[in-house]
Amino acid sequence: ALAAANDLTYHRADTIAHRGASGYAPENTMAAFRKAVEMKADYIELDVQVTRDGHLVVIHDNTVDRTTDGTGRVGALTLKEMRRLDAGRFFRPDFAGEPIPTFDEVLDEFRGKIGILIELKSPERYPGVEKRVADALRKRGMDKTRSARVIVQSFHFDSLKRFHKLLPDIPIGVLTNKASQLTDAMLDEFATYANYVNPSRNLVTADLTDRIHERGMQVFAWTVRKRDEVKPLLIAGVDGIITDFPDYVPRSHRR
Ligand code: G3P
Ligand code: CA
Repeated sequence: ALAAANDLTYHRADTIAHRGASGYAPENTMAAFRKAVEMKADYIELDVQVTRDGHLVVIHDNTVDRTTDGTGRVGALTLKEMRRLDAGRFFRPDFAGEPIPTFDEVLDEFRGKIGILIELKSPERYPGVEKRVADALRKRGMDKTRSARVIVQSFHFDSLKRFHKLLPDIPIGVLTNKASQLTDAMLDEFATYANYVNPSRNLVTADLTDRIHERGMQVFAWTVRKRDEVKPLLIAGVDGIITDFPDYVPRSHRR
């Protein structure tokens, strides 16, 4: 961050495709994750929740209403019921038939191809979700090394601490959209278990990225949906940009 603010070539950041390349394909579907790979993003971001019968599924909202042709809470539907739903048509008719992915199938297709930023979404609704995610990673040998390029993030810090105890080698990201959670005292606490502090874009300043870096952590900012939102984040010194549009991060500014 001490580099000249006008020397933009100095600032390089990872590109994280938010819910996949969700500006170009239906969010949190295999189509959106494949698009992210095709666009050479560094990571896909996805949201994990649990079905009534205990399966991990990839979906953002707590209900299927907005992104599918069904209705109801994720935790009230079985995997079989969810797999019958169409999670593509809401975005565009030519994506009709895209299913809600299982967490397992995303890991199987994308591990080693692209980084995976896993959000534990509303973990307070799903007791034991941390162990289910840890088991899925361990089963594939993705629990040992940081080179697996997996990060687990959440707005729920107790859930992150639980996950960190289960798989201490997996990097942890603290999500926040509250300035009150970015005091020096809070950052000191995060540094005891987290490797990333991932703030809402509007909270990012050069001072904030400095204070996070001083504590040995990195910063991924979210969510970029306009081209002109990229440059101020690069100037502030973020390490990654979480965006629906991976191509908005100029290649020359990528890491
Ligand atoms: O990765 C950050 C971002 O995904 C957090 O917000 O609501 O899109 O899950 P949300
Ligand atoms: Ca998310």
